[in-house]
Amino acid sequence: MSTSSRASVRPGGAAASALDGIANTAYSVAFEGIGRDFQAEKKRGEPDSAKRVLRDVTLEVGAGEVLAILGASGCGKSTLLRIAGGLDIPSAGRVTIDGSAVNGIDARCAVGFQEPRLLPWRTLAANVALGLPRGLGREAGALRVSELLDLVGLGAAATLRPREVSGGMAQRAALARALARNPGVLLLDEPFGALDALTRLKMQDLLLDVHAAAPTTVLLVTHDVDEALQLADRVLLLGAGDDAPGATIRQILTVPGQRPRDRGDAELAELRAELLAGLGVDRHGYSTRSTT
Ligand SMILES: Nc1ncnc2c1ncn2[C@@H]1O[C@H](COP(=O)(O)OP(=O)(O)O)[C@@H](O)[C@H]1O
Ligand SMILES: [Mg+2]
Repeated sequence: MSTSSRASVRPGGAAASALDGIANTAYSVAFEGIGRDFQAEKKRGEPDSAKRVLRDVTLEVGAGEVLAILGASGCGKSTLLRIAGGLDIPSAGRVTIDGSAVNGIDARCAVGFQEPRLLPWRTLAANVALGLPRGLGREAGALRVSELLDLVGLGAAATLRPREVSGGMAQRAALARALARNPGVLLLDEPFGALDALTRLKMQDLLLDVHAAAPTTVLLVTHDVDEALQLADRVLLLGAGDDAPGATIRQILTVPGQRPRDRGDAELAELRAELLAGLGVDRHGYSTRSTT
C-alpha cells in the first residue's frame, strides 16, 4: 500500500484540512551492518571485556511502513531503537534516514516509551506542546496541539493534568506529543506495555487511525506477538543465534492482509505460532529454550 493512499484515509471523519499540518512525512530507515558492544562489568583483576549485544543487523524499512520488532527480554530491541534515533551510537555500521546518516539525536525521529513521561504540573495540552518544533508561531502551535488532541480523542481533556486522567489517556497524550513535531520516523518502545488488556487493544486501534491520518514510518518494539501481527506490515524477530554472540535478525515476516486485521484470522494464527516458536515459546506457553 502506498503512503499516499494511507494519507487519504481520514479516521473519525476528521476534516482533511485540520490534519494536513500534523504529519505528512514518512522517511525510509536503513540499518547497515549494525553492531553494538557494551563494556562488560569489570571484575577485579580481569581485563576489560566487551559484551556483544547486537551484530550485523541489516534491514531497510520503507517510508510509511510499520515494522514491529519482537525478541526476548534483554536481546537488544531498545538498543536497536535507540540507535535508529541517534540516542545510542553503534559500535559497527550505521543508520540512514531518508538516505542521510544519523549522527547524534535525530530531529527527524520522535520517541515514545512504555511510561508516558508527562510533566505532572502541566496540562495535557501543555505537555503536547512540549513536542512542537522550535520556531513554530504561538497561534500555529496552539492550533496543532488542539488538532493532535482531537486526533487522539483527548479534545475534551486538554486542560486536565496527568494525575486527573487514566493511564490510557496519558499514553494518548504522549503519542500526541511525539507526533507534534511531525516526525518522519516514530520510534515506539513497548508503548502499550503498561496498559490493561482492553485499553491496549483500544490503543492499537488508535495507533492505526493515527498512522492512517499521519503516515509516518513506525518502528514498534513490542513483546506482544498479537500486537505485532495486528499493527505491522512486517515483523522482525531479533534473537541470538548459536554461532556467535549478540542478537541479529532471525526472521522477517510479512504480515498478510489490510489493517485493521481480523484478530481471529487463521493465517495470522499460523504466523503467531511461528513467531512464538521463534521466541522459544511453544503453543502451551512453556519456554522451549533456555534463556540467559
Ligand atoms: N548503556 C548500557 N551499558 C551496558 N549494557 C547495556 C546498556 N544498555 C543496554 N545494555 C545491555 O544490553 C542488553 C540489551 O538491552 P536492551 O536493548 O534494553 O534489551 P531489550 O529492549 O530487548 O529488553 C541488555 O543485556 C542490557 O543489559
Ligand atoms: Mg527494551
